[in-house]
Amino acid sequence: MDRNLALELMRVTEAAALSAARWMGKGDERMADAAAVEAMRRSFDKIDIDGTIVIGEGERDEAPMLYIGEKVGTGRGPKVDIALDPLEGTTITAKGGYNATTVIAAADEGCLLRAPDTYMMKLAVGPEAAGVLDITDPVPLTLKRLARALDKYLEEITVCILDRPRHEELIRTVRETGCRIKLISDGDVSGALATCMPESPVDILLGIGGAPEGVLSAAAIKCLGGDFQGQLRFRNEEERQRAIAMGLKDPDKVFTLEDLAQGDSIIFASTGVTDGEFLRGVRFTARGAVTNSVIMRARSRTVRWVTAQHHFDYKPKY
Ligand code: FBP
Repeated sequence: MDRNLALELMRVTEAAALSAARWMGKGDERMADAAAVEAMRRSFDKIDIDGTIVIGEGERDEAPMLYIGEKVGTGRGPKVDIALDPLEGTTITAKGGYNATTVIAAADEGCLLRAPDTYMMKLAVGPEAAGVLDITDPVPLTLKRLARALDKYLEEITVCILDRPRHEELIRTVRETGCRIKLISDGDVSGALATCMPESPVDILLGIGGAPEGVLSAAAIKCLGGDFQGQLRFRNEEERQRAIAMGLKDPDKVFTLEDLAQGDSIIFASTGVTDGEFLRGVRFTARGAVTNSVIMRARSRTVRWVTAQHHFDYKPKY
């Protein structure tokens, strides 16, 4: 896969962010998401790839655009699997909150897990703790091992958890260990990525979030040298059967980083919609806007932070 595809994908996440940002704080999650989806779909048309969406807006019958199995790109060029979340944090955007982003991961055909639209128990850590934790261990043991790997006291460890009633017990257990907690209202892709950032404000992400977001997080973490493990949590037997029908032979297994994002062809791009942990949101300026993005590649482990100035006089579609 051509490394310049990373830049092309950033143009796509930028376009989605510029469109979604116009809906910030308007209380309309559906329109914010639709704006991002439409912009992303349009931007893909210019890229020379034979792309297939493997993680998208849902199944064909429930999503008009960017559905699982949809072909994107001009059809000329390499076969590429695409995982995307046009707006990671629809509620955040609707409320003008913190940490909404647009996200895309790409890889050689067959290298991204085709995860069903269900939940996933997740564990994400940065490079210093890669390879030393196991998601099936009791949480207190995991946190003790993490503290040892990071050479910190337990009381200095920060655990990022989605603020949901389903995490009441997890939160209680973490508090009993003495660790600190950062509760986030939404956007656990940002939470997972934050574990890998230098001088990271969080040391580990734990808890249940969307499975598609799990694959996107794993793709980014593959580029950053951290670790991610996930276990699907089905809400009912129908969801489990759906996962099997999608090709998962053992849907109850622990998915390792390599299961979720295989090999080193992974590329990841994300643009801030609202201000967040490591990306600033879109700033509208006189006849234009400024976006902040990150693009990374697993092969070279290069991480590029890109601030782009857009002039709407020359980009009438934005
Ligand atoms: P959306 O962008 O689809 O709103 O997802 C935001 C998110 O917070 C994800 O980051 C997370 O994985 C998932 O929702 C959690 O799901 P739920 O809101 O059902 O707990």
